[in-house]
Amino acid sequence: MRLDGRELVNFSSNDYLGLAWHPEVRAAYGEGGGAGSARLISGNRPAHDLLEAALAEKLGRPVLLFSSGYHANLALLGTVPEAGDVVVSDALNHASIIDGLRLSKARRVVLPHDHPSQIPADARLVVVEGLYSMDGDTPDLCRWTGDHWLAVDEAHALGALGPQGRGVAAMQGVEPDFMVGTLGKALGVAGAFVAGPAALRELLISQGRAFIYTTGMPEPVALAALVALRLADDERRERLAQNARRLRQGLQQVGARVLGAHHVVPIVTRERTMAAAARLLKEGIYAPGIRFPTVPQGQERVRFTVCSEHSPEQVDRCIDAVATALR
Ligand SMILES: Cc1ncc(COP(=O)(O)O)c(C=O)c1O
Repeated sequence: MRLDGRELVNFSSNDYLGLAWHPEVRAAYGEGGGAGSARLISGNRPAHDLLEAALAEKLGRPVLLFSSGYHANLALLGTVPEAGDVVVSDALNHASIIDGLRLSKARRVVLPHDHPSQIPADARLVVVEGLYSMDGDTPDLCRWTGDHWLAVDEAHALGALGPQGRGVAAMQGVEPDFMVGTLGKALGVAGAFVAGPAALRELLISQGRAFIYTTGMPEPVALAALVALRLADDERRERLAQNARRLRQGLQQVGARVLGAHHVVPIVTRERTMAAAARLLKEGIYAPGIRFPTVPQGQERVRFTVCSEHSPEQVDRCIDAVATALR
């Protein structure tokens, strides 16, 4: 990436498989046009149906597309739980989950991060993420299942983790009732979907306001996502995993306190966070410093995200830059 005329190595993108700039993905944007209206009016396009069918085949369940992950969570969480229901949300859940639950008339219970033992007995729906984007950790989803529905937002895992890139739940052999996946992160395009039982799809089509009252995804975006889905293969996932391992091990060796697992790699830098991020920038590495109130006091950090297309040399350069920044 270029910033202020300088070439930097970007360690802050969610384009985990390097597909955003892939020539075949970019070429796919050349076809089709805007939807022209909401899908329920006249905006339904063959590309939407093709993409939903490809995702449904991959995931083994019906899928409904949304313009973004933000829309998907608003629709799912604003529609499914009803007045009188109890909905449980992990404290580190993304803003789109929080806002979706704000639209619901259900009673919300926010649990401290990764505390499934505190799920109340009367919970109707529990919402967690597959891979948390600030801490880089994955919940043990078996511990979150029970006599309630489980919704897993796989925004940072879809395409990148699990068999065929189906996410953390598939990796752990858990089938959540509802899944949210985004097409703008590991798949490098834009848009999102909700997967679940056929009745859920019907419900969201008829009552999901974030589906009904918005223009359908532009056809080129759906076509590009179809190409990205095909290109998101095991080889890219393996390179991503190797880079994540290399970065994690290297950072530990230079004395950094590394959180989580997989391709989101935060290091706790506390009061030195902004100085460390500035030093990294000087060394040609772009990674943001994340401070209170985004994270709790004492947990301030620099957060790296790895990509399958980073070379081993670029990963090593990042490790060396951290060593310098922490010195
Ligand atoms: C867990 C989670 N869900 C949903 C979203 C929103 O996805 P989108 O960028 O497609 O709106 C994000 C984006 O950062 C996210 O991290």
